[in-house]
Amino acid sequence: MSQRIAVIPGDGIGNEVMPEGIRALEAAARRFDLKLDFRHFDFASCDYYLDHGRMLPEDWKEQLGGFDGLFFGAVGMPDKVPDHISLWGSLLQFRRSFDQYVNLRPCRLMPGIRSPLADRRPGDIDFYVVRENTEGEYSSVGGRMFEGTEREVVIQDTVMTRTGIDRVLKYAFELAERRPRRKLTSATKSNGISITMPYWDERVQAMAEHYPNVDVDKFHIDILTANFVLHPDWFDVVVASNLFGDILSDLGPACTGTIGVAPSANINPEHHFPSLFEPVHGSAPDIHGRNIANPIGQIWCGAMMLEHFGHEQAGRAIVEGIEAVLAAGPEAAPLTPDLGGKGSTSELGEAIAAAIRDGGQR
Ligand code: NAD
Ligand code: IPM
Ligand code: MN
Repeated sequence: MSQRIAVIPGDGIGNEVMPEGIRALEAAARRFDLKLDFRHFDFASCDYYLDHGRMLPEDWKEQLGGFDGLFFGAVGMPDKVPDHISLWGSLLQFRRSFDQYVNLRPCRLMPGIRSPLADRRPGDIDFYVVRENTEGEYSSVGGRMFEGTEREVVIQDTVMTRTGIDRVLKYAFELAERRPRRKLTSATKSNGISITMPYWDERVQAMAEHYPNVDVDKFHIDILTANFVLHPDWFDVVVASNLFGDILSDLGPACTGTIGVAPSANINPEHHFPSLFEPVHGSAPDIHGRNIANPIGQIWCGAMMLEHFGHEQAGRAIVEGIEAVLAAGPEAAPLTPDLGGKGSTSELGEAIAAAIRDGGQR
């Protein structure tokens, strides 16, 4: 059986890291005899917007809905298209319309990478951020009144639903239950945000009763960010609302050396819709066009996508390929500048693809 994958590179370095993601997937597919059928799309990019006046064609749901996975790069050309237009017209639409309510973002210090935190070694940082991905602070509810006058008012509501909170908590608790440490940390702010966050805490407490084996704690988001830096070894599964999860999932990977390695899986756990796999980073206009972007985030996303398809071994082989190349260090492997090396995007991607192929011959 073949898996159908929609390839949507988007903007900026999305176009540079995507070919490396595909190269790694093809290496794994050959080694494990999988059939992956890629189809490329130019929409969900600012160039498409500049040509068509919209980010997506009218029938995008029909075009994408039948795929097994969406392999996505990054969107955003803030000099040409305002971010809220490009992102609400693409990535945020996909998450909502395809009900990808879990955003799973691993933070792991890999061998060969130096953490900016003193004395942290691989194994010391190894946790998941589970981010609520369809509601909360990103709910587009509100408006602007008295525009252009002294009385101008803007209001944007945070919408949290019982179903919306419970389903992401359930995913996070189940993940924690499968991990050796069985620990779950909830990100809250119920001391200051007096309606939604106490409710979030209540739902965490209620869900915890169904998972007596999981050790649960919670921190307010302010001290939680401090603890990510001071005690990253405390964390195993961290569950958070949409905005808190967004912030934690850049901070976590920064603690593991560079956001260039961080992947994310926007998952519809019921498989009613395709899930979407994209690096945590954006289109990085500051380094675009130089072939120096780190492709590991995109490549690791490929591993998460294969795991989502049920090809665990092939997914693991991609992660092992990444680790083998990183472990060689910047002297021996063509690591990109964010990893302290002098390699290019394509050289690093080729080295990882070769390691994925070689893994089979060991
Ligand atoms: P960014 O992640 O694009 O870049 C932040 C910094 O990290 C930059 O200095 C960049 O050079 C560096 N960086 C990012 N990815 C890297 C990689 N793979 N290798 C090496 N260095 C890397 O965030 P930003 O600057 O806030 O946003 C730029 C644009 O991307 C904006 O339009 C923003 O809205 C968009 N964005 C999109 C996504 C997405 O599509 N998922 C995510 C974040 C930001
Ligand atoms: C991410 C990004 C997006 C988000 C932006 C680009 C809308 O930062 O995927 O983390 O906030 O979710
Ligand atoms: Mn983000």
